[in-house]
Order: sequence, then structure tokens, then C-alpha cells
Amino acid sequence: MDLKNRVAMVTGAGSGIGKATALELSRHGCTCVLVGRIENKLAQVLDQVRSLAPDSMLAVCDVSNKTQVKQTVQTVYERYGHIDILVNNAGIMVVKLFADLSDEEFDRHMTINYDGAVYFIRELLPIMKKHASGTIVNMASVGGKLNLPGLTANTASKAALYAFSESLYNELKDEGIHVAVILPGGTSTGLFESTYNKLGEYYRDQSTMPPERVARSIREAIEKERFETVVPLSNRLFIGFHSVFPGFFRKWVMRRLRGYLK
Ligand SMILES: NC(=O)c1ccc[n+]([C@@H]2O[C@H](COP(=O)([O-])OP(=O)(O)OC[C@H]3O[C@@H](n4cnc5c(N)ncnc54)[C@H](OP(=O)(O)O)[C@@H]3O)[C@@H](O)[C@H]2O)c1
Repeated sequence: MDLKNRVAMVTGAGSGIGKATALELSRHGCTCVLVGRIENKLAQVLDQVRSLAPDSMLAVCDVSNKTQVKQTVQTVYERYGHIDILVNNAGIMVVKLFADLSDEEFDRHMTINYDGAVYFIRELLPIMKKHASGTIVNMASVGGKLNLPGLTANTASKAALYAFSESLYNELKDEGIHVAVILPGGTSTGLFESTYNKLGEYYRDQSTMPPERVARSIREAIEKERFETVVPLSNRLFIGFHSVFPGFFRKWVMRRLRGYLK
């Protein structure tokens, strides 16, 4: 898809990968709608985005609230008359062993990381179908393929989003609507802010990829209509190792992580 004069909605655009994506897309010709829960975070990003794409706007919306999602999509469609790109990026991650994770923490991963994306697609799909055009980008994770300890809720939500995305891709590929899924490795963002244990700190310290690198991959996935993007590409080695030699992979992981699980 050519990005010139497109309207792109980016959820979780107040920080990290979402912020970098909004800036990347606006630099390449998109008008952006910044979606998130906290208005002043979005407003700061909007100032930067508007210097590149003056007609951009922000929308305060909790992606896990179906009614808010519906209203947000309606408002944006009324304003622009088209919505061409949806980047389902909003997400949370709590690093804890399953035994220590509350029901509320577990459910929150599913309602934000998975249901939130589905709610947006539900509302936007009729619009994209009407225009016979659109791109939906879902933010999964390399973690959703490797199933590391301390991330049960996160990996479950991301694996579900990946599976949903592939099925939807197959349904829509002949209708002019492209579905893409992004699997970043550890990225240096605020996602790890609520992490106060050894394992979370270990994961955080391994997460050094700049969010701008992921944003570039998102932009390329949209332009080149690619389904799956693993970033960095070298993580394909881990995914391949895990799928071909799962037993060896688990032993290798546990040798590295055992000391962090207590
Ligand atoms: N960082 C990594 O290593 C990594 C690796 C793989 C995948 N990812 C995925 O990348 C995505 C972006 O994460 P990030 O690393 O950029 O972390 P981040 O800086 O914490 O960004 C997450 C964004 O999601 C928003 N958000 C959270 N809950 C929301 C809700 N209910 N409604 C609307 N917005 C909500 C947050 O904004 P508000 O709190 O202001 O609403 C925040 O701006 C996530 O889906 C994450 O799982 C990250």
C-alpha cells in the first residue's frame, strides 16, 4: 500500500513502539490518529506528529472497552471519510510466574492485548470492506512463539493474536484488505516499567532494540503487504530452533533462566 494521504489509526501511540510508528507513518505521508488512555501523553506525541502531518488527531480510548472503541472508530470515520490503516499496538506485560499472577492480571492481558485488537477490527472491517481497501497490523511478539517462563499471560494473548491474524489474512486476502502481524523481540520501551523481579529485570536488560527499528518494520510490512515480520530477522533462528527441536530449546532456555525463577 502506498502511504500517501492515508489515514492510520495507531493504538498505544502515547509511548514506545506506538509513538515511533505514528511518527514513522506521518513522515511517510499518513495522517495519524493517536489512540490511548492518557490524553496528555497522546497530546505530547501529537505535537510532534502534527509537524509532519498537520491534520492528525488524538482519541482517548481504552481498547478493552467495546463501547469506547465503537465511538472512537465512528468519530474518526466521520471526520476523515476513510480509515486506511489500523495498527493494533496497545499492550501490557506483567512478568510473573503464573502462580504469582492474579486472575485480574491474567485477564487484563487477554482483554487489552487480544480482545482490544479484535474490537477495533470488528468496527473497522465494514468500513474497509466498503472501500475495498485497508491494512490491519496486529502487534504480536516473538515471545508468543517461544513461550518463555514468567510470560504465560503475555504469550497466550500474543499467540492468540497471531493465530487470529493468520486466519483473518486468509479470509481477506482476495478482498483488497491486507492483514500483517509483527513479532518484535525485546524492545527498549516502558513496557517493563511494572517489573520488579529478577526475571523481569533480566528480560528488560535483554530488550535493547530501539522502538524506531520496529516502527520501520511496521511501515515496510504495510508498504510491501507482508504477512509476518520478525524483527530483528535474527530471531527467526530462535523460532526455527524452537519449532524443529522444541525439547533442546526448552533445556537451553531453562539452563539460562533457572537462576531467575526463584
Ligand atoms: N517492548 C518489547 O520488548 C515488546 C516486544 C514484543 C512486543 N511488544 C508489544 O508492542 C506493543 C507496544 O508496547 P511497547 O513496548 O511500546 O510498550 P509501551 O511503551 O508500554 O506501550 C504500550 C502502549 O499501550 C497503551 N495501552 C495499554 N493499555 C491500553 C488500553 N487498555 N487502551 C489503550 N491503550 C493502552 C499504553 O498507553 P496508555 O497506558 O497511556 O493507555 C502505551 O502507550 C505491545 O503490544 C507489546 O506487547 C513489545
